[in-house]
Amino acid sequence: MTASVLRLAAAACLAAAFASSATAAPEDRNARVEELLSQMTIEEKAGQLNFVSIVPVLEPAYEDVTRRIAEGSVGGLFNVYGAEQTRTLQEIAVTKTRLKIPMILAMDVIHGYRTVFPTPLAQAASWDMAAIENAERVATVESTAAGVNMIFTPMLDVSRDPRWGRVVEGAGESPWLAARIGEARVRGIQGADLKKPDNAASCVKHFGANGAVEGGRDYSALDLSPRALKATYLPPFEAASRAGVRCFMGAFNATDGRPTITNRHLLTDVLRGEWGFTGVVTSDFQAIKELPDHGTAADLADSAQQALVAGADLDMESRAYVKEIPELVRAGKLDVAVVDEAVRRVLRLKDDLGLFEDPYRGATPDREKREIFTDAQKAAAQDMAEKSFVLLKNDGVLPFAPDVKRVALIGPLGDSAADTLGPWAARGEPNETETLKQGLERRLGEGGEVLATHGGAVEDSTDEEIAAAVETARRSQAVVLAVGERFNQSGESAARSELGLPGHQEKLVRAVLAAGKPTVVVVFAGRPLALSSLAERAPAILYAWQPGTMGGPALARLLMGDVEPKGRLPMTFPRSVGQIPIHHEALPTGRPAETPIKPFTTGYGDSTYGALYPFGYGLTYTSFAFGPPKLDRERLAKGESAVVSVAVRNHGRRDGEAVVQLYLRPKVAEVSQPMRTLRGFARVALKAGETKTVELTVAEKDFGYWKSETDFGATPGPIEVMTGPDAANVQTTTLTYAP
Ligand code: NOJ
Repeated sequence: MTASVLRLAAAACLAAAFASSATAAPEDRNARVEELLSQMTIEEKAGQLNFVSIVPVLEPAYEDVTRRIAEGSVGGLFNVYGAEQTRTLQEIAVTKTRLKIPMILAMDVIHGYRTVFPTPLAQAASWDMAAIENAERVATVESTAAGVNMIFTPMLDVSRDPRWGRVVEGAGESPWLAARIGEARVRGIQGADLKKPDNAASCVKHFGANGAVEGGRDYSALDLSPRALKATYLPPFEAASRAGVRCFMGAFNATDGRPTITNRHLLTDVLRGEWGFTGVVTSDFQAIKELPDHGTAADLADSAQQALVAGADLDMESRAYVKEIPELVRAGKLDVAVVDEAVRRVLRLKDDLGLFEDPYRGATPDREKREIFTDAQKAAAQDMAEKSFVLLKNDGVLPFAPDVKRVALIGPLGDSAADTLGPWAARGEPNETETLKQGLERRLGEGGEVLATHGGAVEDSTDEEIAAAVETARRSQAVVLAVGERFNQSGESAARSELGLPGHQEKLVRAVLAAGKPTVVVVFAGRPLALSSLAERAPAILYAWQPGTMGGPALARLLMGDVEPKGRLPMTFPRSVGQIPIHHEALPTGRPAETPIKPFTTGYGDSTYGALYPFGYGLTYTSFAFGPPKLDRERLAKGESAVVSVAVRNHGRRDGEAVVQLYLRPKVAEVSQPMRTLRGFARVALKAGETKTVELTVAEKDFGYWKSETDFGATPGPIEVMTGPDAANVQTTTLTYAP
């Protein structure tokens, strides 16, 4: 028999062993998992809980990993991709190990696999759940073709501090919006049937309050009331659990003195008890090993014991479980039933993924060729990019007039493919990425001209470079300034203490603006930057985020007016770093801020109160008038819902889309509630001159709130119902809750 026939034979035996698993009743499937469990040694059990990175940045190197797979001590691998590589590695598990158990093969596919979409925060700015779900669908089709069966996405850490680099990976500051986005992403990744080979298991992260890191410093601990955790940080995770997500990744940090990964209350009582989650929980990278650094565990054995008992099934890259579990059990310090329960969950997930029937899930180099980086996928990425851009300011410069043919493209980011892709771009290739320069050139076509000059680097510019940029601007009809952050200035481990344009870009912008040409500043960034001085000077500002593979053409179409700006901010933009944290769910105070600043009121003596650009904000190429909210009833009885209608008129000269936002606040509550909290929105397309009435519903759950960590409910009385185009521009009416 040749090697490949042998391989097929082995796969066939395995398939026979687990035959009809797809159609088997849950009891039978459980019986099979139990059967397997009953045959396992304690070492093999510990091996199933070991989640290992294949990237040899850390020890052990690749050869050692393959040896360990063959030994049966690797339950899941991550950072793996490519049909050839995943098949080779999976084959070791299903042919060389005693029990032939296939591995989970995971990857961080954060905003696309090879067809790179805008960053998750940019996608959140689309306020378009269908487009977000589709972005995950594309990413999952590509990833599964490459043999990946679990995706470490979505990140749903509510993010209110733009100093934190990881805001780029999330859905922004609103727990409600993040919950909707989380549901859409989970649907996009997992589909209706996990067994289908182009669906994967989604791993939502980072459960706990990773987004609340103090001062925006990655990994930092914080002290948060259990009620605030429930009210603000956990809702997106609960929504993901309800949407059927199959994996949770615990946060690195501690919320109340207890690192998440040893917090049994969170991992077991809340997640499994209150929410009924039955999937697997993994630690984050080496989080178990780091427990002694938090000062809550004595050594690796103690760390392993605490994490497993708390409810962390998988140990990512600490090697704590695989090293310590057998001895802990033998010494009577760890009940084997706890180990069994974790292994059971891991095996069930593998079974649900169909891995026992086809450990490769049909991933082949041929499928990769057919299903990765197709024209349709690129079109979807471009569509998402067009939906994600946020127009922050426009004195009438945009869209450029049709007779604009000679455009100066100035700045370090106009032709930088890596910075267009953004951080954590998986298999995205800079040489397959269309930059703004390429997009503009193509859009202007023959007879058009792009005068491109970088004006220096992101980090630095010389006076000569700036002078050359000004000269280029003078020769043009219109100027596009492409400035902002490098891709690696946001993301994990990329906190910043200053949020202005890095390097000398501010100087470059001022000098070019002084040339007096119609100028738009296009900002590439992973996070909200503090743009006060730009906002004062620039005639137009377009926030491009990091728009991915098709960012260039998408931007060019928007600048030339082929498409309308549609994005709305998913995070508040501060005036200055000193205002952070700043978000739309601010709690009330007995001394509210006043403008102009008054003594003995909240706020700063040296800064206007409030955001530079509020949550939900975004301009279009037309303008809308929002009518006041009208309720279909004054009183709401228990179990009823009220309909709020808002008339919106497009009184500009172009068609456009308005986003009607609904904010609520119980006026009198048992515990102080945010001045407004997003509870709904509707996007409405309006032709020039058209008026439409949008309807949104309000029910008890929408104005209910956490009175304590365990008590969620509504208080009878007045509920403020606010609607408008953004969180700072609302009109209010009152609904009385009379249960
Ligand atoms: C650490 C990150 O915090 C997490 O988001 C990621 O999924 C893992 N590393 C695996 O790469």
